[in-house]
Amino acid sequence: MCGIVGAVAQRNIASILVEGLRRLEYRGYDSCGVAVLADGALRRARSVARVADLDAQVRESDLDGVTGISHTRWATHGAPVTDNAHPIFSRDTVALVHNGIIENYESLREMLRGKGYEFASQTDTEVVTHLIHSLYRGDLYAAVREAVKQLHGAYAIAVIHKDQPHTVVGARAGSPLVVGLGEGENFLASDALALAGSTERFIFLEEGDVCELSLNGVRIADRDGNDAVREVRTVVAYGGAVELGPYRHFMQKEIFEQPRAIADTIPQAEAFDATLFGEKAAEAFAGIDSLLILACGTSYYSGLTAKYWLESIAKIPTQVEIASEYRYRDSVPNPKALVVVISQSGETADTLAALKHAQSLGHRHTLSICNVGTSAMVRLTELAFLTHAGREIGVASTKAFTTQLVALFVLAVTLGKMRGHVDAAQEAGYIKQLRHLPAALNSVLALEPQIIAWSEEFSRKENALFLGRGLHYPIALEGALKLKEISYIHAEAYPAGELKHGPLALVTEAMPVVTVAPNDALLEKLKSNIQEVRARGGQLYVFADADTRIVNDEGIHVIRMPEHYGLLSPILHVVPLQLLAYHTACARGTDVDKPRNLAKSVTVE
Ligand code: F6R
Repeated sequence: MCGIVGAVAQRNIASILVEGLRRLEYRGYDSCGVAVLADGALRRARSVARVADLDAQVRESDLDGVTGISHTRWATHGAPVTDNAHPIFSRDTVALVHNGIIENYESLREMLRGKGYEFASQTDTEVVTHLIHSLYRGDLYAAVREAVKQLHGAYAIAVIHKDQPHTVVGARAGSPLVVGLGEGENFLASDALALAGSTERFIFLEEGDVCELSLNGVRIADRDGNDAVREVRTVVAYGGAVELGPYRHFMQKEIFEQPRAIADTIPQAEAFDATLFGEKAAEAFAGIDSLLILACGTSYYSGLTAKYWLESIAKIPTQVEIASEYRYRDSVPNPKALVVVISQSGETADTLAALKHAQSLGHRHTLSICNVGTSAMVRLTELAFLTHAGREIGVASTKAFTTQLVALFVLAVTLGKMRGHVDAAQEAGYIKQLRHLPAALNSVLALEPQIIAWSEEFSRKENALFLGRGLHYPIALEGALKLKEISYIHAEAYPAGELKHGPLALVTEAMPVVTVAPNDALLEKLKSNIQEVRARGGQLYVFADADTRIVNDEGIHVIRMPEHYGLLSPILHVVPLQLLAYHTACARGTDVDKPRNLAKSVTVE
């Protein structure tokens, strides 16, 4: 992952480089660093603490300059220690920051060792730095263009050379990089957000592009080395500090923002039609016979939930695959399948690669469901539906997930209608239910005090099981993921009927078993599964809809959900699981918004 920033200007750019990192911390926060060119020499500050610490170092050491680069790291090669923090130097002459993974770094390292280069870090990045140094003949732009020909893997880089003031060279393949155009100054960054306040004019570099930034212009070469002209786009990226308000963490704030986020995502139209997904959607949807959904993590679970809706409402066969698996396996392409990629960030490397793989196999119709309109994913798909969750800062996805579910439900109803399985009255009913969701969610959020009481007990556990059935099995999966990623408690989810085929062996008095119990057609089956756990002494924590007649008893703790919500019930049932994970993590004192080893946007495979 990692985030990078670069700048050339006639003013001191240290604060732009550091502020940019603060906004890119969602891409990783294992270490950070900045390098500037001042009086013909490279100067650098690096920190294995957060950006605030780097900022203090930069101020104390007057690290001023008019040309510079900076980096926030998510460690891949080498531990998060200072020596591995970027910018990485080559012989105090070249400084480089890198996002991505260089797959052939070992052979390049041997080749460079043979030329006398010594390695001070364990990073794959250092080979790129020395490689550029070895190819430099007075023109950094030319050296980088030569160097990237030898790189295999994914990268976005920004480079400066001590003999070339007012020059930053960048290159990208597989990892995002944008050029920000100013007046007499120019910038580079992993995300336009990093440069908010400095410019609103951006060039989104394409695969294989190399660029050279100077004070008065930008040169770009395409993957074949030819001069390229790229579209300049205006992006107003709000980069101001997002206020926490009365909340302790962004995750809590984002959980409570869900009624608003969902209201903003539900289309205002009185009836749903294909144009909600793009101008060409009507034609594309008319010719499809199935869906192939590709995503990772929480977004994958929204796809799994949608499969139930798509097959029951629209009667369209739907396959859901983890993107990192799909991209590397032999599959049987069906050109009539609509490929749907789901992503909060729109930059997730595995999902992007899976999309490109599907396109290369002949899938013509592609749709992204995404929270970032300017992302690579939205730019690569034929059709798009944007969720309006607003910026999600907490690493654990919450409002992005529930807004994805809304988008996917709208897709199911739209396809159902086009395929003759949803009539006008049913459509009006679905729309009415959607519109009532924000109010229903507010009632669920009011359960927070009861959930806090449970979280005290959970915080003392090291394992937990989550159970659900049917539509709510993916919700159990999502609840387990939330708990493990922020509280570090080992958690697994199972379809409740599967328990007796193995996992029941884990159940003892020490094992909390969280159960999602909607009042749906599977309720009686679920009740039997609950009894199987009780009979083995397991401690059940059940989120039960009204009228389920599941009540507090020995070994069974119940929080009553306000109302049963039919097909949209997963959107309500996930919320108490988010709150349970959040308050359990708080009770354990973990870094909720920035859990260990993770990053918000996973731009490496
Ligand atoms: C978990 C979480 C991750 C992301 C996954 C995909 O809380 O946030 O599992 O869902 O990394 O990210 P996007 O949706 O940006 O493609």
